Amino acid sequence: MANNLLKGKKGLIFGALNAHSIAWKVAERAYEEGARVVLTNTPLAIRMGDVNALAAKIGSIVVPADATNVNDLAGLFSKAMKHVDGKLDFVLHSIGMSPNVRKKVPYDQISYDNFMKTLDISAISFHKIIQTAKKLDAINEWGSIVALSYIAAQRTLFEYNDMADAKAALESIARSFGYIYGREKKIRVNTISQSPTPTTAGLGIKGFSGLLDFTERMSPLGNATGDECADYCITLFSDLTRKVTMQNLYHDGGFSSMGMSARAMFMYNRSLDCNDCNQNPLINSDKSSIIENL
Ligand SMILES: NC(=O)c1ccc[n+]([C@@H]2O[C@H](COP(=O)([O-])OP(=O)(O)OC[C@H]3O[C@@H](n4cnc5c(N)ncnc54)[C@H](O)[C@@H]3O)[C@@H](O)[C@H]2O)c1
Repeated sequence: MANNLLKGKKGLIFGALNAHSIAWKVAERAYEEGARVVLTNTPLAIRMGDVNALAAKIGSIVVPADATNVNDLAGLFSKAMKHVDGKLDFVLHSIGMSPNVRKKVPYDQISYDNFMKTLDISAISFHKIIQTAKKLDAINEWGSIVALSYIAAQRTLFEYNDMADAKAALESIARSFGYIYGREKKIRVNTISQSPTPTTAGLGIKGFSGLLDFTERMSPLGNATGDECADYCITLFSDLTRKVTMQNLYHDGGFSSMGMSARAMFMYNRSLDCNDCNQNPLINSDKSSIIENL
């Protein structure tokens, strides 16, 4: 349902690869809400993915840029402003990649060259984007910048590897730059900490389907989908959230506040060694109350 929440606004969206990408869904929703959007991704992702089809659908252009390259970023912002005929109102950073995750290198054996690439692509690119925008004065007052994060920034999650360190840095950059950009230009900078979502990047994490099931069982509202994440991004780009800045905002169905849920406990007990189940009176006595609360 469209409410013209972004009527007259102009935005730059990084990271739409294919229809599963969260950035893709955000671009579609932004367009529905009345925004003009410029899309960008790496030359390789543009060739391998479907972003040109998205651009045709929403009347956008695609500008190739590697978000780790400041010269690319300067050219990108200039082209984007030329295309929309003025400054931008919102920017989405929806970028993540770890060569260590991709090559399934365990965290205690990672290659430092790869680690530097993970940090550069997944976190420092956020600083580079904001710094370039600020230098070029590319964003209107009361504009909004959002990056997508994950709870591994705060908690250790099996197999998330060096992406956890990148997300911690990403969230810190949002606070540090949020202070400066807010003070000087009234521009807000936030991160959204999203539920696991079945996208190309998400599915690259070992054990992803088990994680998806676990967080679904742990979250009272269930996992937040990519479409729901897009809705949340729209609110942050809109004028309804002008005083929200320097925040990491959980969009995860309540997962981040949970310790253990009845639905997750039920599965955990079921998977215990049967001898344990039968001999442990605590587990047996708890079963009926857990089933009642599922
Ligand atoms: N999928 C999940 O479970 C999940 C959960 C929480 C947060 N996130 C975050 O959401 C964001 C979007 O990921 P997604 O899940 O939509 O997956 P995705 O694979 O669709 O998107 C990742 C994008 O990053 C782009 N990218 C990689 N290197 C780049 C570079 N050097 N310059 C510019 N772009 C580059 C890729 O081309 C791709 O479009 C990421 O930051 C990811 O960490 C994802």
